[in-house]
Amino acid sequence: MARETAVAMPKLEKDYPRIVVTPPGPKAKRIIAKDKEWSSPSYIKEYPLVAAGGRGAMVEDVDGNRYIDWMAGIAVSATGYAHPKVTKAVQDAAAKFLHICGTDFYYESMADLCETLARVSPGKGKKRVFLTNSGTEAVEGAVKLARSHTKRPYIISFNGAFHGRSYAAITLSASKVKYKAGFGPLLPGVIHMPFDDPYRAPFDPREIDRVFHQIVSPSEVAAVIMEPIQGEGGYVMPRPEFIRMWRKICDQHGILLIFDEIQSGVGRTGHMWACEHYGVDPDVLLTAKGLGSGMPIGGIIAKESVMTWPRGSHGTTFGGNPVCCAAALATIDLVENGLAANAAKVGAKLIAGLRRLQLKHECIGDVRGVGLMIGIEFVTDRATKEPDHQLVVDLEQLAFTKGLLLLSCGKSTIRVAPPLVLTDYDAEKGLEILDECLTELKGKKNGKKK
Ligand SMILES: Cc1ncc(COP(=O)(O)O)c(C=O)c1O
Repeated sequence: MARETAVAMPKLEKDYPRIVVTPPGPKAKRIIAKDKEWSSPSYIKEYPLVAAGGRGAMVEDVDGNRYIDWMAGIAVSATGYAHPKVTKAVQDAAAKFLHICGTDFYYESMADLCETLARVSPGKGKKRVFLTNSGTEAVEGAVKLARSHTKRPYIISFNGAFHGRSYAAITLSASKVKYKAGFGPLLPGVIHMPFDDPYRAPFDPREIDRVFHQIVSPSEVAAVIMEPIQGEGGYVMPRPEFIRMWRKICDQHGILLIFDEIQSGVGRTGHMWACEHYGVDPDVLLTAKGLGSGMPIGGIIAKESVMTWPRGSHGTTFGGNPVCCAAALATIDLVENGLAANAAKVGAKLIAGLRRLQLKHECIGDVRGVGLMIGIEFVTDRATKEPDHQLVVDLEQLAFTKGLLLLSCGKSTIRVAPPLVLTDYDAEKGLEILDECLTELKGKKNGKKK
């Protein structure tokens, strides 16, 4: 497929953003009321967006408002909303058969996807792939694989990490206490280390000595699991030397290095995988989110020498469902043939535009990231770097009413994680709205002070 085809599909007209009724409009209000009545109270619901459809990086709500989307349903809709190639692949697959169970039987799209993921994964040597329904299932499986392969009990993860909602995943996570509160006891054998946060707290290598002398012997550690760029924890991009240091330590002690690329992978950073920016290959790589453009699919991609668990030891009923495999194959094709390059190109412009806004707005403490995985961290004071959580809450709400969809992460960061089909127009128009919102919020804050 020609590169231009991938980026230009679907055709984008500039009939958005468009606010025809202050959201939530009447139709949205009715749906929200029903949802509130019947759905689990654990859902977050950042703001009252009620989606009805979309194309490219535009989302339309049930009342006809149109938004520029800078969050892709938490970094998922890699190919945008209802990309014709992905939609067709899904429709064609659904018309054939919906399920047969890949754990027990064979079908072509599953074999194709395993082969494709092994091919596009980083590092030399043969890989094998286990397909899952979600990110957290990939994480859960990776912990089992690491323990069964190494016969060691301990796993090291990092402060600020987020790996999902199942038990191993919440234990490994350390981004927000609310994900664990009330759910203990958690998985035994997980040790947290500081991450490398160049803006707030660069990693002190003496921590390695402390942990391996006071807490755990490296010979008992099965795996180190790390997001090469932290997602939910605040879009924190560590220095390359931090990642390289962990590769070395893992090699020295026979520890597996697992990269959780569930948020950072599938072209989001301009490369297929974020770890390619550091030149470091993992032993195991986890993917999900953008992989199926919104269809539920993930994967554990491991070196063949590592994926040694015996027949029947691990499986899944729905994982690698044929309709989801079709979506993933179409997505990877689009990412390889233009969308990763588009993420690099538009992402660089977006970062430059955000840095210009940083010069104008004191509240922007840091702009970081690569490709279309960008963090904007807000502070009350640049000198103290005090996080401005309330500003982020207000900004999300205000931007929504002006036709820009934003999503927070960490304490006071906006994660810019739009569909990879984002155009220059989507970037520039979004920057304009962001600028307008920050000016308005500053005016309100100054008004309050008087
Ligand atoms: C880095 C990372 N790992 C794992 C997960 C969990 O994925 P899922 O929600 O599909 O279970 C997420 C979800 O946000 C994530 O960002």
